Amino acid sequence: MTTARLIALDQILFVLVAAAWAATAGVALAGLRQPAADGRRTRLIAAALCAAAIVMTALRVAVTLGLARAGWWFVAEKVTLALPLVVLPALASAVVSLPRLLRVPSGDAPVPSPRLVAFPLLVTAYGAVAGVACGVVVSYPVTAGGAAAVLALFAAASFVSWRLLGPVRAPEHRWQTAGTGVLALAVALAVGGVWPGGTPHSGHDGGAVAPGLSVDLLRGPAASAAGGPAGAKPRVRRFTLTARPATVRLASGAVDAWSFDGQVPGPVLRVRQGDLVEVVLRNRLTDGQAVTIHWHGYDVPSGEDGVPGVTQDAVAPGQTHLYRFRAEDAGTYWYHSHQDSSVAVPRGLFGLLVVDPAVPLPESEDHLLTLHTFGTRPTLSMDGAAPVDGLVPLALPPGARARLRVVNTDTRPVVLGLAGAPYRIAAVDGGDVPGATDLDGARLHLAAGGRYDLTFTVPSGPVLLTAGDRPALLVNGPATPPAAAGPIVDITRYGAATAPPARFDQEITWVLDKTLAMAGGLPRLAHTVNGKAWPNIPTPVVRQGQTVRITVVNRGTDTHPMHPHGHHVRILSRDGVPATGLPMDTFDVAPGEVWEVALTADNPGMWMSHCHDLAHAAQGMEFHLAYEGVTTPYEMGGRNRPA
Ligand code: C2O
Ligand code: CU
Repeated sequence: MTTARLIALDQILFVLVAAAWAATAGVALAGLRQPAADGRRTRLIAAALCAAAIVMTALRVAVTLGLARAGWWFVAEKVTLALPLVVLPALASAVVSLPRLLRVPSGDAPVPSPRLVAFPLLVTAYGAVAGVACGVVVSYPVTAGGAAAVLALFAAASFVSWRLLGPVRAPEHRWQTAGTGVLALAVALAVGGVWPGGTPHSGHDGGAVAPGLSVDLLRGPAASAAGGPAGAKPRVRRFTLTARPATVRLASGAVDAWSFDGQVPGPVLRVRQGDLVEVVLRNRLTDGQAVTIHWHGYDVPSGEDGVPGVTQDAVAPGQTHLYRFRAEDAGTYWYHSHQDSSVAVPRGLFGLLVVDPAVPLPESEDHLLTLHTFGTRPTLSMDGAAPVDGLVPLALPPGARARLRVVNTDTRPVVLGLAGAPYRIAAVDGGDVPGATDLDGARLHLAAGGRYDLTFTVPSGPVLLTAGDRPALLVNGPATPPAAAGPIVDITRYGAATAPPARFDQEITWVLDKTLAMAGGLPRLAHTVNGKAWPNIPTPVVRQGQTVRITVVNRGTDTHPMHPHGHHVRILSRDGVPATGLPMDTFDVAPGEVWEVALTADNPGMWMSHCHDLAHAAQGMEFHLAYEGVTTPYEMGGRNRPA
C-alpha cells in the first residue's frame, strides 16, 4: 500500500479506534450498573465491542508499522505518544475487563466491580481520544508542549474517572473531583505551552547580524552602470505594467478581473538573454488593492524579488515601483503580484516572461500556452491573447519543429496530454533538459506555477493537447486524435542523469502537515512546516557558497508545490529513488512523498519560500530562506501581505 493510502487509512482508523473504545466503555458501564442477571446481555455486547476495539487497535499498530517504513517523520508522535496511550490500557482491558464481562454470573453472585472492569476500558477510550488529539495538535517534530497537552488531557480524564468510579460520594465531592481534573488539565496546558510562539513576530528571524547587508542594496544593475561582456553595453528593454481592473470575456460569461494593462494574462515580456530589463509597475487598481511583481522562477537579485514585507513595501494605488534585472538565464518564466497572492493571482495579476537564448533555438514555431482557471472555468491563452474556455485551434506547417511553452498559473497541478506526435520535454521550469527522450502518448504532471517546454515535429495529421480532462489546443484540426491516455511521466527521472553534489554543507528538513498551530494570531488548523505556521516557522539560514540538502516530507493529505524563491533546486531523489537531477523552482510533493533536493546558495538575500497552492501559503505554509548577514528593512503583516 502506498504511503498516501496508509496516511488516509490511519486517519480513519484513529477515529474508529476512539469510537470503538468509547462505545465499549459506555456499554460496559451500563451493564455493570444493572443487577447481575439483567445486565448480562449488555455486558456481553460490551465484550463484543471490546473484542472489535482490540482488533481495530491492532490494525492501527499494523498501519503505523507500515508507515514507519516510509520514515520516522511519519510516525514519531504515533510511536512515542498516541499508540502507547491506547495500546497499554488496551492490553489491560483485554486481560482484566474482557474476561469479567464474559463471566456468566452464577445465581446471585455480585456484579463485578465497576472500578475494576470499567476503569481500564475508560482509560483505553481516553488514550484513543488522546490519539485523535495527537493527530490534530502534534506534527513532526514532537514538541514538549504538544505532548504535554495530550498527556494532560489523558491524565485529567483518567483521574476524574477513577474518583467517580469509587465509592458513592456526595454530589459536591463529585464536582470537586471534576473541578480538580479540569484545573489539572488547564495547568498542564499552560505549563506545556501548547500554543507555540505566543507572540507572532515578523518572520525575519535568521542569521541577520546587525548591522548586516540590507536587501535594499541587492538590486539589479542600473542601465548606466551595467557593462556586458568585454565592456559592451547590454541592450536595455523597458516595460511599463499598469495594474488595473479589467473584464475577461469568456464564452461561458464575463469575469471581473485584476489585470496588468487591462489584459489577462498581462503583456508577454519577451527579451533576449543578456538584456537589461527595466519594468515600471504602476498601480491603478480602484479598490485599494496594493500590488508587487514577483518574477516566478527567475533568479533575480533579492531586492528585485517583489515580495511585500521582505524585499519591498506593497505598491499602493497611485504609486509606482521600478524593477531592474539582467536577463541572465534563457527560458520560460512568469510574473505575478505577490501582495495577497492567493487572491491576486487567481484574479488575473500575472503574465509571462520569456527569455530567448543568445543562440537561437532550432524551433521555427514557438508558442506560449498559459493555463489559468477563472473560478471554476479553466482557460488557455495562446501567445498572450485573450483566454479561451473552449478548444483553441492552431495551424502549424507540417514538418516544422515546434515548441509549446506551457505555463500553469493555477494553484493546483494539471495533467497534460499531447497526442498525435512523439514529443519531448525540452525544458522544465525554464531550464533545458539534457538528454530529453521522445515520449509517445505519455501524459505529464505539471505543478502549480511550473512550466514545461514541449517540442515536436509537426506531423501531417492533427495534434491534440489536453489539460486535465479538457481538450485545450488542437493543431491542424478539425480531425482530432484520441486524447493521450498513457502513463504519467516521472519528471524526476526524465532526461540524462547528472552527478549529484559530492557533499553537503548543511541539511534542512521541511516536514509538511496540516495541524493545529498559531496562524494569524489564533490557534487554527493550518498548513504547517515542522509543526509551525507562518510567522513561527524557524527561518533556515544559509551562507553564500554552501550546498544545502533539503529533505521535504509530506505527512498530510494535500499536495504541496514547494517554491523557494531566488533559486532552482536540483531534484536528488523522490521516495528514495534517485532522480536525474533536473533543476526546478516549483516541485510538487504529493501526500506521503519524501523529496530530497539540493540548493546551491549562490544568490544572497532574504528570500520567501512557500507552497504555491497559494491558499496553503495564506494558511501558514510560507517561511523564509535567509543568508547569513542579510537583513530587511521591511515588515510583513499590516499593509504587506505576501500570501
Ligand atoms: Cu510564484 Cu512566491 O511565488
Ligand atoms: Cu500546499
